[in-house]
Amino acid sequence: MSGAKGARGRRFEGALDPTAAALNASVEFDRRLLPHDVAGSIAHAEMLAAQGIISVADAAAIRDGLRKVEARLASGELTWDDALEDVHMNVEARLIDEIGDAGRRLHTARSRNDQVALDLRLYALAQAEAIIVAIDALRGALVTQAKSHVDTLLPGYTHLQRAQPVRLAHHLLAYDAMLSRDRGRVADAAHRTDESPLGSGALAATPHRIDRERVAQQLGFSEVTRNSLDAVGDRDFAIELVSACALVQVHLSRLGEELVLWTSQEFGFAKVGEAYCSGSSLMPQKMNPDLAELVRGKAGRVVGDWVALVTIVKGLPLAYNKDLQETQEPLYDAVETVLACLEVARGMVASLQFDRDRMSAAIAKGHLVATEVADYLVTKGVPFREAHDVAGHLVRVAGSRELGSLALDELRAAHPAFADDVRDWLDPARAIDRRDVVGGPARERVLAEIARIEAELG
Ligand code: ARG
Repeated sequence: MSGAKGARGRRFEGALDPTAAALNASVEFDRRLLPHDVAGSIAHAEMLAAQGIISVADAAAIRDGLRKVEARLASGELTWDDALEDVHMNVEARLIDEIGDAGRRLHTARSRNDQVALDLRLYALAQAEAIIVAIDALRGALVTQAKSHVDTLLPGYTHLQRAQPVRLAHHLLAYDAMLSRDRGRVADAAHRTDESPLGSGALAATPHRIDRERVAQQLGFSEVTRNSLDAVGDRDFAIELVSACALVQVHLSRLGEELVLWTSQEFGFAKVGEAYCSGSSLMPQKMNPDLAELVRGKAGRVVGDWVALVTIVKGLPLAYNKDLQETQEPLYDAVETVLACLEVARGMVASLQFDRDRMSAAIAKGHLVATEVADYLVTKGVPFREAHDVAGHLVRVAGSRELGSLALDELRAAHPAFADDVRDWLDPARAIDRRDVVGGPARERVLAEIARIEAELG
């Protein structure tokens, strides 16, 4: 241990049992908080000096000392000490080693409880911003592909059965719609995280005349928290962010699944760049979409992080409890997994090469225009339910032939309302363009949507 005492001080005679110490220590994972811990401590020390609680010279020594300690811990010149429990005690002990007495004044009017709450909020805010950037980068890749595939048609599916033809651009932009809502959820979680808890102390604030707003402002927070017990005792900001991450990951898992299907020999709709595929150690011909599968599989992990977090906080009495230390790893894991998967998904989407012929061949088989037959009859005054029934009957009559190849006589045998103009309705591209409503796949609608999203992404 370094020259300074650990958190236990002289209240204790002996050291912690070694196994207990290992379980108690968080430095293995909370070292990521280092830059936030240091920024928070500098803001705190400068406020203490401005309020006349410590001297200006001590605050300057603390600031310079913290910067040195941060650089040395980050470079590995100083090693992390498990016996010092956590990032906060490691930094403070090294600061005292470095600058002596001035360092012993840093923790005035502060507890590790409001300190860790602060660090975690700063971490969550920085990561939320990074996630938003990564979401927008993936959206950008989707829009770029969509622009090249406005006129690429493929079957749209329900129940994984061919249903109706759509534009590939429209299909890709469905993921943009999910991701734009995810972006909103992450921003929303960040909005409620944006309050400084510093000054809440261990649980009941501090008798010193501190200036909470000054610290908050220096650290970039919009507000200060309004209840000291709550500020040190809750982690709902982390739960909210991880919940948003879980939904991002669920959406990525759907995209991953779609890539797995599309790149299979059965579909053959697309190829993912080699940078995102693996081979088999046994079968030399294999090119497996491992990364798409991993992006799919990681959803279980991030959802698990959310379950862990919310379960840890459930039932805790006010205010701080050490259980809260257990909320850190799921938060880091969720955020860091989502960031990595967003970047890999962006690369995979950008690398996609689509097989237009395979896609249009898939449209040509499976009666994808059966709904058009029904809608055509509706335009002739036939009630939809009856039209649906007639179209279904025609699918049965057609058997292995496609509806488009039925002769007019055959159609008229099913219903007298059929006329020559039905041909126009059986062409997939025209069928798509007739779906000319907001949110629909008609060419002009898709182009407008691409323009809207591009403007939004800037
Ligand atoms: N490492 C601790 C955590 O993550 C810091 C707060 C410790 N506070 C305490 N009273 N033991 O929660």
